[in-house]
Amino acid sequence: MSRSRLLGPLARRLDRRIDARLERRHRELRIDERLAAAERAERAERAERALRAELAETREHVRELTERLERVDERLHGLDLLLGRAGRRVHRQPTPAQTDALVRRVAEVTGARPQDARRHTVQAYRTLVEVENRGVGRIAGGTANILGKLATTPLLAPPGGRILEIGTLYGLFAACLARQILRAGHPYHLTIVDPVSAQQLQNGRELRHDLSGTPVTEDVVRANLHAAGVTPERLRLLRGYSTDPAVRAALAGEAFDVIVVDGDHGREGVAADLAWAEEIAAPGAVVVLDDYGDPKWPGVQAAADAHLAAAGTRLSLIGQVTTSAFLRAA
Ligand SMILES: C[S@@+](CC[C@H](N)C(=O)[O-])C[C@H]1O[C@@H](n2cnc3c(N)ncnc32)[C@H](O)[C@@H]1O
Repeated sequence: MSRSRLLGPLARRLDRRIDARLERRHRELRIDERLAAAERAERAERAERALRAELAETREHVRELTERLERVDERLHGLDLLLGRAGRRVHRQPTPAQTDALVRRVAEVTGARPQDARRHTVQAYRTLVEVENRGVGRIAGGTANILGKLATTPLLAPPGGRILEIGTLYGLFAACLARQILRAGHPYHLTIVDPVSAQQLQNGRELRHDLSGTPVTEDVVRANLHAAGVTPERLRLLRGYSTDPAVRAALAGEAFDVIVVDGDHGREGVAADLAWAEEIAAPGAVVVLDDYGDPKWPGVQAAADAHLAAAGTRLSLIGQVTTSAFLRAA
């Protein structure tokens, strides 16, 4: 028997077995694929379900936050009415960063411990808000500058409570300062020099009607001071300019422990007020010079720098907090 006749049937049988095995393998592979696809689909479905749940949770969270924000907004509206800028150009809502910067500066200039500088600054803020909201009109200037003056002055330990303010507008800042001086333990007496003109006067500048809508009158100034607790026996209001001979004569021979120079902001006016302060500042008195370094009032710094550089002055610069310079009388 030839070799091919013997191997032929065997080869065909082998072929059939291989075909059958391949066929089975294909079937298995098709099943595996279907299983894998089903598994993928199930995984995708599970992931989708998880995503939908997360989305629903996020939506709920956003809804809750929106409601909470609306409630906060409503509450802030009340605060905004109390502390906002309507009627006074600037708001009374310092940011934490602004307060921190101010506290640091107050501590640097006064040498106070940071916690004491903070306490004075916070108390000054409460005083400012309370007095301004209780009174009519407004306190002139930005919040940081006002707080700087109110917190720094008592920390510089003036020798007593005799206060002179040159330029008062509505009397509200003077009332705040008197309270701060009282807080430091000095019974105060407040003398104010101001023409109490129906509109704020500034040398060489025409100032529009005040945006608080309140005219500056003696009644307004006195009512503000009274409302803030400055009783008549603690107050002397001299109507006139600081350069008026009658005003000078009325205060001749007196000494003041705190002098606030905030009247005429022109160079000559400030120079005249500082020259007067030389005469009436008590030894160790603190002179507060408002708007020093404020670009709106260049005459203030020009006059002060020239005054401090001149020979024979009793005044020396302690330091500057925002736009107020603090001087000490020898
Ligand atoms: C900037 S306001 C004072 C603001 C006030 N000290 C405050 O902090 O709210 C200036 C005031 O000084 C007054 N004034 C202007 N020249 C003056 C002078 N030579 N003597 C006194 N007061 C003056 C103005 O009429 C005005 O009332």
